[in-house]
Amino acid sequence: MDISMKRRTLLKVIVLGDSGVGKTSLMNQYVYKKFHRQYKATIGADFVTKELQIDDKLVTLQVWDTAGQERFHCLGAAFYRGADCCVLVYDVNVSKSFETLQNWHEEFLKQADPTDPEAFPFVLLGNKIDVDGGNSRAVSEKKAREWCASKGNIPYFETSAKEDYNVDEAFLCIAKTGMINE
Ligand code: GTP
Ligand code: MG
Repeated sequence: MDISMKRRTLLKVIVLGDSGVGKTSLMNQYVYKKFHRQYKATIGADFVTKELQIDDKLVTLQVWDTAGQERFHCLGAAFYRGADCCVLVYDVNVSKSFETLQNWHEEFLKQADPTDPEAFPFVLLGNKIDVDGGNSRAVSEKKAREWCASKGNIPYFETSAKEDYNVDEAFLCIAKTGMINE
């Protein structure tokens, strides 16, 4: 089949999670294959796009990177609306970033107001698994998977933006999960 004949799908993906968990780093690794050691807080929100092919469909992932810092939480409903998938990110070495997932999850559903909140696609990423060879982990994989199960079986990936571990796999799942309603 001619590539121009293929169906094109645009998927809007919103990435949420506490400041410093690695949202921007995961996106930079996925799209540009780059990792920066130095932390530069995201201000407001910005998006990057990546084209991928899934089966016979051409998919444009439009990934929205958001600011984790409290003082930038002013995006609101207009921004979340129309999202096809919400990616929640926490740092496996920081308990607090796992505990606040609950708030991010609730806040997203409140703002995005999808027709069927129970069925809305989420994906959870536990990032920075490379740190100290895994010895500084504060949240076990089991605990994370239990939370995912309690939220209607959210897919879960453990990632390292630094080592480029599981990043492509996670985003492929994100794209597939977001296509459920296409
Ligand atoms: P905000 O924009 O403030 O919401 O933060 P963020 O979630 O975008 O975090 P960011 O990607 O800026 O990463 C924060 C810091 O963690 C940076 O210094 C990154 O280099 C570092 N970092 C991100 N991912 C990883 C990882 O997988 N492993 C390690 N060791 N460091 C990481
Ligand atoms: Mg950022």
